[in-house]
Amino acid sequence: MSRPAPEKRLFIKTYGCQMNVYDSERMADVLAPLGYGMTDTPEDADLVVLNTCHIREKATEKVYSELGQIRLMKLARQEAGAGMTIAVAGCVAQAEGEEIMRRQPAVDLVVGPQAYHQMPELIARAHRARGERLSADFAAEDKFDALPAERNPTGVTAFLTVQEGCDKFCTFCVVPYTRGAEWSRPAAAILAEAQSLARQGVREVTLLGQNVNAYRDPDAGGGLAALARALAKIPGLDRIRYTTSHPRDMDDELIAAHGELEALMPFLHLPVQSGSDRILKAMNRGHTVETYLRLIEKIRAARPDIAISSDYIVGFPGEREADFEATLALVRQMGHASAFSFKYSRRPGTPASALPGQVPEEVMAERLARLQALLDEQQVAFNAAQVGRTLPVLFERKGRHEGQLVGRSPYLQGVHAIADASLIGQIARVRIDGASKNSLSGVMAEKPQPAPALEPL
Ligand code: 5AD
Ligand code: SF4
Repeated sequence: MSRPAPEKRLFIKTYGCQMNVYDSERMADVLAPLGYGMTDTPEDADLVVLNTCHIREKATEKVYSELGQIRLMKLARQEAGAGMTIAVAGCVAQAEGEEIMRRQPAVDLVVGPQAYHQMPELIARAHRARGERLSADFAAEDKFDALPAERNPTGVTAFLTVQEGCDKFCTFCVVPYTRGAEWSRPAAAILAEAQSLARQGVREVTLLGQNVNAYRDPDAGGGLAALARALAKIPGLDRIRYTTSHPRDMDDELIAAHGELEALMPFLHLPVQSGSDRILKAMNRGHTVETYLRLIEKIRAARPDIAISSDYIVGFPGEREADFEATLALVRQMGHASAFSFKYSRRPGTPASALPGQVPEEVMAERLARLQALLDEQQVAFNAAQVGRTLPVLFERKGRHEGQLVGRSPYLQGVHAIADASLIGQIARVRIDGASKNSLSGVMAEKPQPAPALEPL
């Protein structure tokens, strides 16, 4: 993929040793995918980086006086309606840290020599702090960042957005740039909407957010567990799901809620992305295979029948056959009910797009086929394991065949059964007698319980 034409200008001033000269080149490489091209004149620059040297006190003082000059340029640009981001890198940044920002408030970010690969993230954060969005650089709609449409036309199940945005900055992902910082809706507004949905006959809500388990009520401060507890009290709302979660935000309270709340469905989408620690680190995921597996153990201890789904990316830059095999090994260990898998897609503007070792398309295709074969096998096995069980099914609509209804099991499997149309919108027990890769079939086990009386409008 070709790089985008530079729309923004980058000025880097390098002080000191050869090491800094090399680092400045690396910074330019890391920033190129964000659309930054070099300029020789700091007055024109959207981003000014001082790559500093700490070898003598005089060198440090020189940085502060230079920053004073650049501050004036920033002010002039601001007056002209343009912005300027000022970054201090190198050894002064390392030694003095955020003290630099206190001494010269015009500085937006300070980045030590170990963290140059994080510059795109740090710059995005600095822009956010000023209330600017970076989204202009990205296609507005991305197949990976769109949330599902809010309403389901059947009226029995509904999606409810509770959170948007992401602060995780996985290096392959555009969401932190396109959707901005994590943001949660007040619980009171969500509860009011859920109550109204329940009155209209909705029996199941799926709480949506790019990082839904990072949910935090901006008014009362409760997390997703508290929200689920409050939702579970709404008459008629029998099923609660949420997606998508990040392993880092899966706190003990939420795990405990899975053990305690009957309404919280035993199906969790918890993306891990890769089974290789080396790749997880390059992805900036903030978890390892082991910490993920320990988390899964805890969740299964709270809710033994929980089914786990995940997202996997194959062909992340630098992924070797051994890394991919580690992913297959993790999938085997997990035993998924279902999971999504994607070929890595190089998104201009994301840090990973500048990484060396981009994996050829044929290799990605071959790995994806192997992974999907394994995931399909697991999905078939998971569905087959339901045969002989009796599952509560929420019927959503008529099926394709005469007299048939279609609903969902607690594990999100589609279930077909011959049943009376009056059962649409109700949860009934179905004895499962058939399974395929995509759905289950069964017969009605008993007369369903009528839905609880609804609150008057
Ligand atoms: N390439 C491939 N997959 C991606 N995802 C997000 N960004 C990319 C990308 N650049 C996948 C991740 C994420 C899911 C919503 O989309 O697996 O969990
Ligand atoms: Fe993207 Fe999800 Fe990572 Fe956020 S946590 S950066 S949305 S993949």
